[in-house]
Amino acid sequence: MRHLLLLAALATAAVAAQAATPAELQAAYTAQAGSPAQAARGQAFFTSTHGKEWSCASCHGVKPTGPGKHAATGKTIGPLAPAFNPERFTDNAKVEKWFRRNCNDVVSRECTAAEKADVLAWLQSLK
Ligand code: HEC
Repeated sequence: MRHLLLLAALATAAVAAQAATPAELQAAYTAQAGSPAQAARGQAFFTSTHGKEWSCASCHGVKPTGPGKHAATGKTIGPLAPAFNPERFTDNAKVEKWFRRNCNDVVSRECTAAEKADVLAWLQSLK
């Protein structure tokens, strides 16, 4: 159901099935959440742990405007903030895949639409 709502929102926002912009994805998550996104809440979510060892910042950095470093493998991860990495949040399937995987590692469940909207609002505010 949630997935259908997101897809419906995306279909109206994006012409191509997969291509998107950060603003379009943000609009879709916000519509799905049903309340406005809050960048400050997104930052707090991103930089805090949620009962497990890692936060999002453990791999992406506290300020994801520069490269991150994978907490387990040590591999470099390109900046997550879209202003510093134009490929970010342009492919819905990729975004969903990594949200699913990373949220599971950090929060032990999928992130809610509101959490995704908040994180994306914060990432987009980083210039
Ligand atoms: C264990 C390391 C690790 C943690 C912790 C982690 N990530 Fe990631 N994340 C990655 C890797 C690796 C990729 C994929 C490589 C890449 O895209 O550079 C990625 C990619 C992403 C993407 C894809 C964005 C795009 O359009 O390319 C998003 C969104 C994301 N992470 C969000 C999060 C959020 C939110 C959290 C916290 C809930 C988080 N990540 C925690 C390692 C991590």
